[in-house]
Amino acid sequence: MSMSIASHSSSPPPKAPYTDHDDEEKINAALNRYKEKIATLPKEKGWVTKDLYMYQGFWHQPGRVNSIEALMAIQDTFKAHPTDIYLATMPKSGTTWLKALVFALVKRHHYKNNTKSTHPLLVSNPHVCLPGITIEIFRNTPFYAEGDSPRLFATHIPYPLLSQSILDSGCRLVYLCRNPKDVLVSLFHFANKLRDKSLGLMTFEEAYQLFSKGVMPNGPYWDHVKGYRKASLEHPENVFFLTYEEMSVDIVDVVKRLANFLGYPFTEKEEAEGTVNEIVKLCGFKNLSEVNKHGLNNVFFREGKVGDWKNYLTDEMSRNLDEITEEKFKGLDISFPI
Ligand code: A3P
Repeated sequence: MSMSIASHSSSPPPKAPYTDHDDEEKINAALNRYKEKIATLPKEKGWVTKDLYMYQGFWHQPGRVNSIEALMAIQDTFKAHPTDIYLATMPKSGTTWLKALVFALVKRHHYKNNTKSTHPLLVSNPHVCLPGITIEIFRNTPFYAEGDSPRLFATHIPYPLLSQSILDSGCRLVYLCRNPKDVLVSLFHFANKLRDKSLGLMTFEEAYQLFSKGVMPNGPYWDHVKGYRKASLEHPENVFFLTYEEMSVDIVDVVKRLANFLGYPFTEKEEAEGTVNEIVKLCGFKNLSEVNKHGLNNVFFREGKVGDWKNYLTDEMSRNLDEITEEKFKGLDISFPI
């Protein structure tokens, strides 16, 4: 029987690793361990946080999640498994969409024919179903448990900064990138929703200036994409490179290719039963934005379109970003249709 979106699950939905406060001291100690080192780093104005710090050629925000502290901790302690699957993105490139799709397709047998509760993606956020590798590794939550295979993780860490353990593990990695002009617009809105009130709102001009200089969390954008793109060309068996734009054009094809790459190909029977389309629908903008319409969960859903940048960038801004992109991506065979 095919996986039904409305079907019920016998497995409880995964819990957010960050809702449980039992290991607070351990985590704070881990965060503090890097404080002195971080204080010596070059700083720039941040988007969501007050500052960004330059470390190993990229800008990072301080804090707990997707932070410089987490990066340092991961580089020091994280142990990858060969069966792990990592989803890597620049923030605002479609991480939420990719997380939902990979979770749904890898776990499709887990959540079929169930009767007790609904599919996790119908009751919780994709960021809860498929968490980032963050400082929370110190909690040793079930997400990091040795026995759970494959472990699914997301990260914004640039390729050259990934922990050696991940690079040596032979695991699979999916990288999703998006037209930088749409990333800029998406990040501008996201930052203004999440910024500390004391920082005031950013203007679009301010956001554009920072973005063009490469100053954004995990940026420069171009260096981030370049690292993963090169890795995908050199190690296509380990690194699968995707764009938000190709997903928007033919998501069914992308899901099938993703399933093959990850080692979870759809059988003829599944295809005939419409399993691919069910996953696509389950993870589509319409469904996910409806499920996540309350509270902070909705911050990950805005327009979900290709080319919204046309409503924000002047001709000059657009030309300038195009020139940078063309120069930086020379020879990498990356293009954005709009
Ligand atoms: P916009 O701000 O342009 O609408 P991330 O998940 O990396 O934070 O990226 C967020 C962007 O992806 C937002 O773009 C958001 O609307 C879009 N998005 C989220 N879920 C999506 C989905 N299921 N399908 C298509 N786009 C999605």
